[in-house]
Amino acid sequence: MTDAFCKQKSCGKPPTWVVFSLLVFCNTLLSSSAPTYEWQDPITKERLVCQQCPPGTCVAQYCTKDKPTQCQPCPSLYYTQYWNYLDNCLYCNNICSGLEEEALPCNATHDRVCQCKPGYYFDPSSEFCLPHSACPLGSGVAQPGTPHEDTKCAACPPGTFSNSSTGLCQPHTNCSAHGLKLNVPGNPFHDSLCTACQLNQTDGTQEWLEEASGGQLQPVRLLTEESPECELAFIDFAVYQINSPKKLWALKHALEQEAAPKEGHNNQLMLQAEIYAYLTRIRNIPTQVSVAKELLLAFQRTQQNRVKSRLSSKFRKWMRAL
Ligand SMILES: *[C@@H]1O[C@H](CO)[C@@H](O)[C@H](O)[C@H]1NC(C)=O
Ligand SMILES: *[C@@H]1O[C@H](CO)[C@@H](O)[C@H](O)[C@H]1NC(C)=O
Ligand SMILES: *[C@@H]1O[C@H](CO)[C@@H](O)[C@H](O)[C@H]1NC(C)=O
Ligand SMILES: *[C@@H]1O[C@H](CO)[C@@H](O)[C@H](O)[C@H]1NC(C)=O
Repeated sequence: MTDAFCKQKSCGKPPTWVVFSLLVFCNTLLSSSAPTYEWQDPITKERLVCQQCPPGTCVAQYCTKDKPTQCQPCPSLYYTQYWNYLDNCLYCNNICSGLEEEALPCNATHDRVCQCKPGYYFDPSSEFCLPHSACPLGSGVAQPGTPHEDTKCAACPPGTFSNSSTGLCQPHTNCSAHGLKLNVPGNPFHDSLCTACQLNQTDGTQEWLEEASGGQLQPVRLLTEESPECELAFIDFAVYQINSPKKLWALKHALEQEAAPKEGHNNQLMLQAEIYAYLTRIRNIPTQVSVAKELLLAFQRTQQNRVKSRLSSKFRKWMRAL
């Protein structure tokens, strides 16, 4: 190889640094073995074996018997990725689509590289950018999605929960560490529900009985007025005692006093959350209605006797009156 190999002849005017770095590059090539191509001297018709041009360049002048190949840098928006003997660099024709963004701009050695926008990943089977999957409730993000891979979810390990589709599994709140009592144990789908309510076995009995009027006791009213914390504990506890979607639907309709629709989803956790949200909503409306009492009446109307007995073992006093 001679100096002629590295004499640059460019269609555009490359900035000096390009020429300089190419010269440096070429000099380092002198000792390496560049790929070759076969060519015929245009005049002597002699068969020649000549050196190819390095990536980022293309042929400016093919070799002759006396002169090696002359290369030129690719002009902007053109590239060559490999050693070549092309007489033109390739146009950067990779256009990023609407769901893509430019990962690497076009330069002399490679075409523009696109990747899926944030929130999307490339699905090789459809060759489309698809939105990152949400993790189902009860499982958390084990590995966030990337432009190349979907979100990886993993079931929440014991002692943790995830109630949102984008979050990590969070450890259950330790109620006693907060000076509270555990009311409803956490599960993979919801946190532990703590309460400050002290459910005394003997306390308050007098008040309950005095509330009796016309043979009917009104314990819940007292509870609501005097211990909102206990009412909340009661509601929290009660909602999570029902596990069958059918019974949850019945309860939901008894509470909301609507006719049951023909169809509905069968997701127990979603239903619990919906009932919980409904109860929270009516709890915050300042009326005479006691939510705990509404709930007990709804239990009665839907004949949730097993739940009632479970409630009465914990909230004995309140239940005695019903
Ligand atoms: C083009 O960009 C790549 C990285 O994206 C880099 O490795 C390469 O050196 C660049 N080529 C030139 C000629 O600047
Ligand atoms: C909860 O906190 C208490 C007091 O800080 C501690 O003794 C107990 O081990 C904790 N429980 C768990 C499951 O971490
Ligand atoms: C998820 O759990 C946290 C902690 O208990 C709670 O503050 C938040 O409201 C819950 N979010 C939903 C959507 O249920
Ligand atoms: C339960 O009993 C404790 C101690 O006897 C008392 O301090 C507390 O106020 C009682 N709680 C209720 C809700 O009556």
